[in-house]
Amino acid sequence: QLVLDILDKESEIKDTRTIIFPGESKPATSQDAQLLIQGALNSLLSREIILYSTQEILAYDLSTEGAQLAEQGSHEARVWAVLPLKGQGNGMSIKDLRQAVGDESAKIGQGRAFKSGWIGKEGDNLVKLIPSIVDATREELIEIKNTGTLKAGEKSLAELRKRKLVVQKKLLWFSVQQGLHFSTSIEKPETDLTSEMLATGAWKTSNFKKYNFDADGAPPNGGALHPLLKVREEFRNIFLEMGFAEMATSQYVDSGFWNFDTLFVPQQHPARDLQDTFYISDPVESLPPPREYYEKVKEVHTNGGFGSIGYRAPWQPAESQKLLLRTHTTSCSSRLLRQLATRKGGFKPVKMFSIDRVFRNEAVDATHLAEFHQVEGVVADYGLTLADLIGFMQTFFKKMGISNLRFKPAYNPYTEPSLEIFAFHPQLNKWVEIGNSGMFRPEMLEPMGLPPDVRVHGWGLSLERPTMIRYGINNIRTLVGHKVSIEGVEKSAAVRF
Ligand code: PHE
Repeated sequence: QLVLDILDKESEIKDTRTIIFPGESKPATSQDAQLLIQGALNSLLSREIILYSTQEILAYDLSTEGAQLAEQGSHEARVWAVLPLKGQGNGMSIKDLRQAVGDESAKIGQGRAFKSGWIGKEGDNLVKLIPSIVDATREELIEIKNTGTLKAGEKSLAELRKRKLVVQKKLLWFSVQQGLHFSTSIEKPETDLTSEMLATGAWKTSNFKKYNFDADGAPPNGGALHPLLKVREEFRNIFLEMGFAEMATSQYVDSGFWNFDTLFVPQQHPARDLQDTFYISDPVESLPPPREYYEKVKEVHTNGGFGSIGYRAPWQPAESQKLLLRTHTTSCSSRLLRQLATRKGGFKPVKMFSIDRVFRNEAVDATHLAEFHQVEGVVADYGLTLADLIGFMQTFFKKMGISNLRFKPAYNPYTEPSLEIFAFHPQLNKWVEIGNSGMFRPEMLEPMGLPPDVRVHGWGLSLERPTMIRYGINNIRTLVGHKVSIEGVEKSAAVRF
């Protein structure tokens, strides 16, 4: 606005070093002030409110040493100042002089002070010869600091340059004229052509902002995959490569019947306790399970069958109809197997997998959450053996980059034999459990109606565990839940690799 007001009155500013800022008494000649003015000129120039040209002059500025001398006085003046006057005492030893003004000033200052006739010798000691001096070096330096040059001229400047007390620099100033769209008020240019401007014809007289093709674009905000999704994709691809199809897992809420009974989990099993499973309070009960199948499941639990003696424990229908959050995706595998047993064309071998969320009423800590994801595979075919299961595990985990597996006998109510899968973790330098597996029991498969010579094996693992190991995450809450930082996800190496 200051520039525009001056231009309005005087039609041109020949030298921006004559501009006086509001509230100041002297013109703003400093280079900082000129650069500030240049910023304003550039923005006015882009709207063609003004035109300007840049002028350049060479000027002098103080070096670090020069600035120091301008402040404290020249070396020679400092030497002169500390010495006693001739005839007053015995003078000062060189050692004492060094102590008084420092090595540097003592060395350089002595020579120059001698040459100027300011100091002399008194035996081995030094004295000042004259009672007062003019520190011309300091005065020159102060003049340069204030004006950028010396009235005394090139010879004195050359001397200071040689002493490395001054440096040359370029100084800018500007000449300014009124531009094509000159006006004293800075009206904001239009940035968009609107339908209203077209309708009213205002576009003809509007002042449009010019495109700046050199401007950096705003960084685009891209999406980023959560590390769990990345690892899920990896597992899914491995399953697909191995000829598996994905099963339906869309049901978080299921009944005790599908989550436990069909899997031959006894009704008294501790996993069914309130402390382990989340039960639904509204509604409490599921629709009744398919009658005929339900009776078969109840029978095998209570009295046995298919070579089994069953659990011979009391059966409570209410237990089957309790609604709960599924505790494993094996409830989905169970539904799938029952479908296979009852499908129209009869049973056909399948390889199916699922990767989805499960819920357990667990104490939440650095490595446990009340909800997590399970990766589950199921293979159903005639005459499968335990060797097939182990072979499958080895191929499956090898594709994940894990080739060193160990199997440990374990127990699941629905599989026999059951195997826990361990892998050697090179960073942790120990064997870690990575999954659970087994051959589904006849007590589970035969009531479904599957042919007795069909064998089904399955395995399950969490999605979180391998993700944490893969990306070096040691607290599960940085991966899942309300503490996950979106920024962390966007910047995570997992997004790229
Ligand atoms: N359901 C088991 C678990 O939650 C995993 C499993 C699946 C085991 C299939 C055997 C067969 O750990």
